[in-house]
Amino acid sequence: MKTFTTILFWLVIAVSVIQFIPMDTTNKSVKKSENFVDVLNTPSEVQEILKNACYDCHSNETVYPYYAFIAPFSWSVKSHINEGREHLNFSEWTTFNKDLKQGMLANAIEEIQQKSMPMAAYVPYHPKANLTDAQRKILTNYFSEILKSSKF
Ligand code: HEC
Repeated sequence: MKTFTTILFWLVIAVSVIQFIPMDTTNKSVKKSENFVDVLNTPSEVQEILKNACYDCHSNETVYPYYAFIAPFSWSVKSHINEGREHLNFSEWTTFNKDLKQGMLANAIEEIQQKSMPMAAYVPYHPKANLTDAQRKILTNYFSEILKSSKF
């Protein structure tokens, strides 16, 4: 019992201490001239799906959930955001070259169809990201249209 109490004591101390490790949750400002939905004049229906299901990890308009402020969960959230933005950042769309954009759109279609995106761990905490098949179709149709039109 004594060992258990000691372990619990140090665990509480450790969890408390890690709360003080600073985490950067500021978003870079979004320039209209670089922003996917502004540049492509994306229909509002598509914009809404993107905002609800993709923006938290693939844009500079991340809304941090409450658990993003509790270490160690916050570390996992932040790493998903950093990694997500590296793969695809809708807010910095025009900064990517044509090949990268083409790859991002093609990958996005695949990920949405295979239901790999939005990330499974994210959806239970974000009911609006639980996309219906119809919403998935709207997104993939839109991305395919852009790919075909080579407007990117
Ligand atoms: C909770 C965070 C999160 C959300 C929400 C999310 N993604 Fe991702 N996404 C990631 C991470 C992390 C990666 C990189 C690791 C991986 O591929 O699993 C990624 C990778 C990707 C990639 C690159 C895949 C590749 O093969 O290079 C695409 C495309 C993508 N996401 C599209 C989307 C789309 C479209 C949505 C919305 C329908 C979305 N994601 C929602 C976190 C997220």
